[in-house]
Formats: sequence, C-alpha cells, structure tokens
Amino acid sequence: MSSASTAGACGYHSTWSAQMQTDRGPLTSVGCGIPFSKESDLRALSVEVAAYTLIACGELSPVARPTFRRASPAPVHVGGIYPRRQPAHRTKEFRMRTRSWQEMRGAATRFATEWRDETRERAEKDSFWNEWFGIFGIDRRRVAVFEHLSTRHSTGGRGFMDVFWPGYVAAEHKSRGSDLTAAMEQALDYLPAIPAEHLPRLVVVSDFARFRVRNQLNGEEVEFSLEDLPARLRTFAPMLDAEMTQYETEEDVNLKATELLALLHDALRESGYEGHALRVLLVRLVFILFADDTQVWETGHFYDYLLLKTAVDGHDLGPALVHLFQVLDTPKERRSTNLDDDLARFEYINGGLFAETLPIPACTRTMRERLLQAARFDWSKISPAIFGSLFQNVMEPAERRNLGAHYTTEQNILRTIEPLFLNDLRAELDAATTLPALRRFRDKLAELTWFDPAAGCGNFLVIAYREVRRLELDCLKQIRGRERGSTAELTIDVQIESKVRVGQFYGIEIEEFPARIAETAIYLVDHLANLELSAAFGQYYARFPIRDSAHITIGNALRVDWNDVLPARQATYLFGNPPFHGMSWMTAEQQEDNRLVFTEAPVTVGRSGRLDYVACWYAKAIGYMQGTSVRAAFVSTNSITQGEQARSLGPALRDAGFDLLFAHRTFEWTSEARGKAHVHVVIIGFAYGQQPGRKLLVDYPTAKTSEGEVSTPPHLNWYLADGVNVFPAQRRQPLLAGLPPAVQGNKPWDGGGLIVEPEAIDEVRADPLAAKYLRPYRQATEFLWDEPRWCLWLVDADPGDLRASRVLRERLQVVRQARLDTKTVAVQQQAATPALFNQIRQPSSRYLALPEVSSERRPYVPAGFLEADIIAGNKLITIEGADLWVFGVLQSRMWMAWVGTIAGRMKSDISLAPGLVYNAFPFPDHDGGRRDAAVMEAAQGVLDARAVHPESSLGVLYDPLAMPSGLVRAHQQLDRAVDTAYGRARYVGDAARLHALFERYAKLTNADSLPGVGIAVPRRRRVG
Ligand SMILES: C[S@@+](CC[C@H](N)C(=O)[O-])C[C@H]1O[C@@H](n2cnc3c(N)ncnc32)[C@H](O)[C@@H]1O
Repeated sequence: MSSASTAGACGYHSTWSAQMQTDRGPLTSVGCGIPFSKESDLRALSVEVAAYTLIACGELSPVARPTFRRASPAPVHVGGIYPRRQPAHRTKEFRMRTRSWQEMRGAATRFATEWRDETRERAEKDSFWNEWFGIFGIDRRRVAVFEHLSTRHSTGGRGFMDVFWPGYVAAEHKSRGSDLTAAMEQALDYLPAIPAEHLPRLVVVSDFARFRVRNQLNGEEVEFSLEDLPARLRTFAPMLDAEMTQYETEEDVNLKATELLALLHDALRESGYEGHALRVLLVRLVFILFADDTQVWETGHFYDYLLLKTAVDGHDLGPALVHLFQVLDTPKERRSTNLDDDLARFEYINGGLFAETLPIPACTRTMRERLLQAARFDWSKISPAIFGSLFQNVMEPAERRNLGAHYTTEQNILRTIEPLFLNDLRAELDAATTLPALRRFRDKLAELTWFDPAAGCGNFLVIAYREVRRLELDCLKQIRGRERGSTAELTIDVQIESKVRVGQFYGIEIEEFPARIAETAIYLVDHLANLELSAAFGQYYARFPIRDSAHITIGNALRVDWNDVLPARQATYLFGNPPFHGMSWMTAEQQEDNRLVFTEAPVTVGRSGRLDYVACWYAKAIGYMQGTSVRAAFVSTNSITQGEQARSLGPALRDAGFDLLFAHRTFEWTSEARGKAHVHVVIIGFAYGQQPGRKLLVDYPTAKTSEGEVSTPPHLNWYLADGVNVFPAQRRQPLLAGLPPAVQGNKPWDGGGLIVEPEAIDEVRADPLAAKYLRPYRQATEFLWDEPRWCLWLVDADPGDLRASRVLRERLQVVRQARLDTKTVAVQQQAATPALFNQIRQPSSRYLALPEVSSERRPYVPAGFLEADIIAGNKLITIEGADLWVFGVLQSRMWMAWVGTIAGRMKSDISLAPGLVYNAFPFPDHDGGRRDAAVMEAAQGVLDARAVHPESSLGVLYDPLAMPSGLVRAHQQLDRAVDTAYGRARYVGDAARLHALFERYAKLTNADSLPGVGIAVPRRRRVG
C-alpha cells in the first residue's frame, strides 16, 4: 500500500478528510460524521480513528502527526472503513473499562427500572441504546453508530441498521409490542452486505419491553423481557472482548494481570533478556502500567506513546522504553528543551525507581503487541498489595496454573493489623469530637511508625499504609466539616495535605527483588491514597516526584540489628509474617541464624534449636522491645504454640516480661509462598509489660473456617487460650489423684526378630515351640486399621524352648545382632537378653489403648479397650485399669481441645505423650455421682455405635468423611456429658473448652494464685 485512503464509516452530519504522513506514504482519512459540535473533536476522532486503526493493525507506522483539512461541509454518508474490530484506542478513555458482572448486573437493574414504561420508539430509542451500552461500561459513541446505511439482501434496497458496532453487534429497535421475530429477520437481512471481518457476533432486537438476541457464533437465539435483563446479561458475553473481560472476583482480575505480565515476561526472556535486568524492567513496566491508569500522568498516555511512537515490528520499542525511563528519572526543569512533546508530558518520578541504566531490550512485534495488550488492561483494579504474588507467579511459570492459591488475602493481613493498631486508632478517631482533638489525632498519625522485619514484597506495609491514610482522610474530612461550621481558620482549605508519609514505614527483607517490589508498591499505594484524598476534596493532590521512600533494608533480619533500621525508641508497631519453616526444613544458614539469635537473646530458651524459624523473630523482638511500648504481632506457624515448642518459647516471653494482646487461633493461611499454600498459622499480638484491659481472642471452629468466634477474655496464655499463663509439665502420675496412669507400650528394638509379620506367620506357627509364644501385636497402625501382626512374647519363656526351636534360635540371633550393631550402650547390653523386648510395659489386665500419633483430620483420637494378651507396641499408649468414664472423657471434644493444644506434632499429625498429654490432663471431678454416670452412659453409646459396624476398623469409622451418623450422634451426646462434667451444658468452640481446662488445671495445681486465673465469661460476636 503506497498510499492509504480511509473514510469514517458512519458520518452523515459532516465529512472531513485528513492527511497523515506514514511510512507507507500519505494516509488520507475522511472523517466519520458523529455529530460533534466542535471541529477539533471531530478532527480528533475522525482521522485518528482511521489512522490509529491502521497503526494498531500493524499496517502503518506513523512518521508524522496528522494534518487536517475540512473536506466537505455537506452531510454525506460515506461507506468504507469501519471503526476497527478491536475498537481503536486513542486514549484509555477510548477503551472499555473493565466491569465485573456484579457491577453490570447492578447497572442492568437500574436500566430495567428506568426503561420499564418507555414506548416511543423514535423519541427515546437512541438514549435507550446509549444507556444499554453503558451497562457494560462501553461508551457507545466510541464504538457504534446509529442509522448505519446498509443494503437489504432480500430486496437490494438501501436501509439503515439502527445500531451497528462492527464486528460485535447489530441491533434493530421497534416500538413496544412489535413482532420481534420479524424484526430479527429484518436485522439479519442486512448482514450479507457487511464485510466478513465486520460481521457482528450478536444481533439484538428490542421493543423496549423485550430483547431478542441471536448469537451468530453458535446460532442460538433467545428472547427475554426487560425485567429479566439483569439475570440474562451473560447472553451478551460474546461482545465483551479480552480487554473488557468481565471478572467475577478480585482474584480473576489478578489472574488476568498475571497472565498479561507473564506473556510479556516470556517474550522478553525468549529474546535473551534475563535475570536482574528483566526483573527491574518488569517492575518498572508494572509501575508505568499502573501509572497510566491512575492519573500519574494523562490516562492512557503511555499507551499512546507505545502505539504512536514505536514501529509495529517492535524494532524501536527497546530504545523507546529506555528513553522513557530516562525521562521519568529526570526533573522537568533538567529535561532537554527539544524533548518530544509526547515524552515531555510524562511526570518526573524519582525515588530511584528509574535510576539504574538498563540494557536496551531487543524487541519484536510480539513484544510490542503484548505490551500494548497489557497497557489496554485496567491496572487501577489491581491492589498494590498483590504485587509480590504477581511477580512471583510471573517469574516462575510452573506456578502459574496455581495462581489462585498463592495470593495472601487482604483479609489475612487485616486480621493482623486490625487488632494491632487499626481498631484502636479508629476508636481514638471516633472519640475525637473537637477540632483540637482531631488535629491532635492527625498529628499523632504522622508520628507513628510501622516495621515489618520480614517484609517480602511489602504487602503488610502496603495495606497498613493504605488503612492509615484512610483514617487520616476520615480525620481530615471531619476537620473540614467542623471548620466549616466554626469561625476558626480554615486550615484544610488552605492546604489539603496528608501528613502520613511512606517514610514512616520500615522493613527488612533478605532478597533484593521483593524489597524493590515493596518500595514500588508503597509508592503506588501512596499515589492511590492521594487520589482518594483528591476525590474527597475535589482538588488534585499528588506526590510525584517522589521525595520520601519507605525504608526497606536488604539484609538478614536475624543478623541485622533492628535498632539500625529503626531505633526501638522510635518504633510503634512491629508486624509481619516471617517465613513459615519448620525446624526440619531449615537450611544450615537458617539453623545458624537460630543459634546466633538465641545465644544473644536476653532470656534463656530451652531447646531453642527445635523451634520453627519464626521463633527467631520472637527472640529478636524480645531484645528489641524490652522496656519499650512497641506493640507487635506476627503471623506464625501454629506449632510454636503447641507441645514442646510452646513449652520452650512461651516461658521465654513470659519470663522476659511480655504479655499477649490478642490472638487468632489456628487457621489456614493462603500464602503466596510457593508450595506452602496450606500452612496452619496463628497470629499473636504481644507487648512488653502487663497489658491492661481485655484481650481479643478469635477461634476458628476448623482451620478452613473463614469466620471466627470472637471473645474478649481478661487473660490470654501462650496456648492462645483464656487462662493462666502456665505450661503443663510432664507427670508420672495423673493430675487427678486416683486415676490410672498412662504409659507407652512395649518397645521391641529387635531388628525384626521378635515381630512376626503376616508373611512369616505360617513358618512360626509350623514350629510348635515358637507357636506357643505367639501373641497378637498392635502398634498404632494395626490398632487403627485392624491389620494382623504378631510378636513372640518370651517374657517367661522356657530356656529349653528357646534352645530347641530353630525358628526361635534364628530370630533371637537377629535380635542379638541388631542390638550389638547399635551405638547405644544400654541397648548393646540388651543383646544379652534377646528374648525380651527392649522396654517391657505390658499391662497385666484389660487396658485402654490410644495411638501415639493420629491424623489431625480425625475429629477424635480413637481409643479402644484391648485384652491383656494383646501385646501393645511402643506406638500405642496404654492405660491399664481405665474404666468407661476415663474412656468417655478421652473420647470427647474437651479432651481433643487439650490434645490439639498441648500435644506436639509429627508433621501435621497429633503426637500424644502420655506423661504430658494424659497425666497432666485436668480431668473433671470423678466422684461416682450423676455426672459420672452420664459420661459412662454416653461412652457406652459410643462403643455401641462402633459395634454396629464390626467390619469397619477405627481408622475407617473415624475418617471425617466416612464416620457413621450413629457414631457422630453418640459422640455429640458424649461431648455434652463431658462438657457438663466441667460445669456447662455446652461449650462453643475449643477456646471456651480450653478456658475451662486451664481454669481446672490451675485449680488442680494450685496455680490459681498466678495472674490470669480470674475468669470472666467471654462476650461473643462473629467476625470475618
Ligand atoms: C512469608 S514471607 C512474608 C513476606 C510478606 N509479608 C508477604 O506475605 O509477601 C517471608 C519473607 O521473609 C523473607 N525472609 C526470609 N528469611 C529472612 C531473613 N532471615 N531476614 C529477612 N527476611 C527474610 C523472605 O524472603 C520472604 O520474603
């Protein structure tokens, strides 16, 4: 094409022509006749629609700005080029804004109400269709024309299509009550004359009261009433393109953004642009894409720059970007006076974001297209808080399919920051009812600091900053409202200014890239907050160029002195979610971190090497916060509040003088961390010194429950329970006198010689001497799953038999050798008695057995009675002489609340230690009274319900999905009976049960003189 002639498709009011010099010769455009009153408007629309269309199609590259001249004053209609199938995008106003289906349904409902009684076809038809487009967030004037001249296929005569959006929609409008089938035929009759690439996907006819819609892609045709429009909106989905894709949820929008960025990333990487440069480039581009949608400069200006200033084959895109980066990094007064106007209109950003000189990427047509595609997306819908996940998922393609699981939800961050500071600050603002009090509050906000010592991509800092700015905005509005009502000086009118600065936000992050993302995200959230401020006061307020930055230190938080980042005396709030690593997942360096931190900690922490990594942040916090009023909250793996870890870290905090402020009990953290999407966490708020007032405790019935039960107990202990801050200790005898103790079963340490597996049983049985000593043997697995296993129980065996039996001789030799081969001296010595188990604790009468380890999925750890001739292995806990009452208590929710808190964990399974979990358990009174009888009766009910399924093992019966309803009911009955034994007919949630248990524990151990034993009935409400 050496020259191009284009004409607006739709004009019948006036026509214009314009010329534009392109790399393929002059482009002449005849303006489309959308009735603009001002010549400049028309000019802008007509020639640029045509020119941009061709540029965007890749048919032309602009080399000069278009020039315009009036062609004809007479209104004529010109056929020819249509607005592009992908609508031409001059600026982002030209694009469709993304709207969620929910938003569209709301708009459709309003539309249906408004147009309910309209009948005058001529009078209101145009408004009807303009508003109909508006439902989808589409400006009709930008994409579609009314009265499009066309040819009827059946007659060859000329006619007008009422509404035409090339490539998308053809619509006919009729007066109320018309025959819509006939109207549809008429509309379809125009289609054969339309060029193939402009054939509409949908044909729509309406008489105000009804819609008839034909989907040309699949031939389906439906009719529905105006009233049903909101419910039938998806009928119009085919006309909503990728850039206007309608997202159901915030997550969908995030996914779309990730996808666009991922495409760009892949294209760059394929070109050999990698590593640090690629990461920096992407962060910059995301900043720019955001800026392009959030009024940092004229909306869509970056899009225009790409479209107009770069060639379609992408060869000059790299230099154009690098040039832009330089401009963004240069103050306006220092820019070249010859700078192209398109570049000069970009703001100076500063903040170091664009300072580094990057290698110039060698770009292709695909890269340019992908960047344009990303620029058409509406980035204002993305929260800067998800930056981290966005980049992580983009950089690691294998993870992209799993995106949804990796976003740290705002809800989880709010769970931390609301009780840490937001709720209190909000209450303080509410209480500020005078101008001086409001001004003081505003000044106070400007004095506070926030510090995340494992900041990652800064999502905690970002959300905290946004929320604090919102508080400040509310405060400013109130100040303004009050100033208006008083004769006092109007300070806010004079200067609408936010005093809260990003410089009040601090972080430490070990990796450079997330730290950079954090800084960028904070700039953006600052900008968004400024826009909110601007909108509220009708006055534009921005902070570009950036003059103040968040202080993100790149380094190892466990080796950096936190006082070097922010002196503790200036600190107010410390928070975050340090890494979720269990002890066994820690690298050698992290183990060294642990060693160093606990060596330097101002308190002694027992068995610190066995603590999760997050415990190191607590140890650092102890040293940092001691003697200050800093308030802290860390999201932490829940294991630090359970079992052995609780007993080592909890006392350290208590002894260092710390008290808990609030806690969220275990819930599932939807983490952005790869492969760690299902960590079970708690949130612990703490501060130095006894904290007055009630605490906040949120208890989640299950880890997946999104709503927690809230109570406000007077005390909180390290097990995140309302109760005395004690740490139940291992005991040989049960706390409640008179009950039988629990012990571990028999430990073989036999190299397999004493245990007889099913495959060996025939051989042993065939030896009459060996067969005499065969006993059923139960470890946890056999107990839970009814699997057969035997052992040779040779405690009182006749030495003659041992000598005479080949099977016994061979097996004892195996035992002997295995013990000799160990390094443990005590075991080596037992090589002398190979016929005996290494530890013998076999009950001599019927006993109660529990597995030592049980899946945390089971609602109860199943217990069962075994006869004395069944040998219990060391993975069983045995309680000889336990009666139905003990069984009943150990099969209740009350016991499970204790187990879930006090027991340790093997991976995520519960690990019961008899001395700690059972012997230290504060049983209720056992006096043979009415309550005991109720427990025993209900316990029998559980045994009876199990007996209904003799073929099912305990493992099957207690599978949460397979548990028979009769058994479930029997347990519920038992739960009530045990609850009653503790004093209440029913406890709601484990937190309430733990409260009762710690109260009882304190009583039985005489610890009730310690702080925290005074018990109040908690108040309850539900929170999200
Ligand atoms: C669970 S992430 C949380 C980050 C952020 N709040 C988020 O949700 O994205 C933990 C962060 O701590 C960082 N980190 C791990 N070990 C660290 C250390 N020793 N010092 C400082 N940061 C560390 C990791 O790189 C990661 O970004």
